[in-house]
Amino acid sequence: MPDAYILGIETSCDETAAAVVRSGEQIVSNVVFSQIATHQPYGGVVPELASREHLRAIVPVVRKALADAGQTYRSVNAIAVTQGPGLAGALMVGISYAKALAFALETPLIAVNHLEGHIHAVLLEERQKGGFSDAGRKLNFPVLALVVSGGHTHLYLAKQRGESWSYQNIGHTRDDAAGEAFDKVAKLLGLGYPGGPIVDKLSAHGDSSAVKFAASQLKNKDRNDRGRSNEYDGPRFDFSYSGIKTAVLRHVETNNMQPAIAERRKELAAIPQPKLENYLSHCDQHTLDLVASFQRAMVEDLIGKTLAAVRAYDAATLFVTGGVAANQQLRQQFEKDAAREGIEVYFPSRPLSTDNAAMIAAAAYPKFVARDFATMDFSAEAGLALK
Ligand code: KG4
Ligand code: ZN
Repeated sequence: MPDAYILGIETSCDETAAAVVRSGEQIVSNVVFSQIATHQPYGGVVPELASREHLRAIVPVVRKALADAGQTYRSVNAIAVTQGPGLAGALMVGISYAKALAFALETPLIAVNHLEGHIHAVLLEERQKGGFSDAGRKLNFPVLALVVSGGHTHLYLAKQRGESWSYQNIGHTRDDAAGEAFDKVAKLLGLGYPGGPIVDKLSAHGDSSAVKFAASQLKNKDRNDRGRSNEYDGPRFDFSYSGIKTAVLRHVETNNMQPAIAERRKELAAIPQPKLENYLSHCDQHTLDLVASFQRAMVEDLIGKTLAAVRAYDAATLFVTGGVAANQQLRQQFEKDAAREGIEVYFPSRPLSTDNAAMIAAAAYPKFVARDFATMDFSAEAGLALK
């Protein structure tokens, strides 16, 4: 198979991203334009603003990705774009642009599921290091993938036949995603948006055993974790993170922390790009302990359920990917626990854990080989499932 250079485009949420990847195994360029500054004053992503910012950024971001790669619009072998899941208006910007390019250039177009992209971020980077190949380290099946981000907390069994991949969902969150819980807790403590990275950094300064969260606050109410679903045979491992957010809120109210939070929110908002020192100087020890305890509860729950699924499905390899996979404590603890269980665990590097287009171009490569091209009438699917 000759080399294929695929231009990936990703606009599912608040990052406008484009990248060129060679044959699913080498990042040639990777450009991510973050809209965080636009959404920060609102404490979360505003869908209309996201679409508008994508419209502004898409052309320069794609041009830069091509220029950085030494490629042109005409030289790439295919254009890949995120079809979903994500914000419908945001997805539509990337899809319309990719369709226009593919039509004008007569280049094959490939529609990619964002969650498959997160899984392929791991494969791409391992291949880039020489792994998962005949000569390098083998990829041992069954592979279980935890995709843990702002919109998803999903467990998939990933299968490969020839170059093609397929996925079976064996668990997901019944309410909030893990990243959403990080974002909501940070917001309610006056720490701004996005919450994950700041909670991650502040947690190192708090006592994670100071505040106890009951297991019932992290349990989904409507289904047993090991219950059987109607969709397919086999145990399910579902998550639930709306209860812990409420528990943090109760703790705040019981301990009368609101006046200090309001003050912190105001003071941090006045600093254009607050640094860790600014956050630390606006947090008392009690707040740092609460943040660290919350993160610990999240990490323990994510790892506990994922490892239970590893055992139930006798997985040999575990992928942990998506924005929350950037979390330091989650990575360290997973590595320790996976070693104890005797399974291999892989994470993307931090920049490839959060949204990017290299993962979209990488996930498109098996479809390119199979000539699984999209027709011009496909559209954005906000709730697209991964199969
Ligand atoms: O994958 P991603 O960039 O976008 C989605 O597809 O959702 O994930 C973004 C999410 C946000 O909720 C953000 O707070 C969280 O990932 N996140 C983190 C960290 N970095 C980003 N959560 C915990 N620790 C981090 N270091
Ligand atoms: Zn994502």
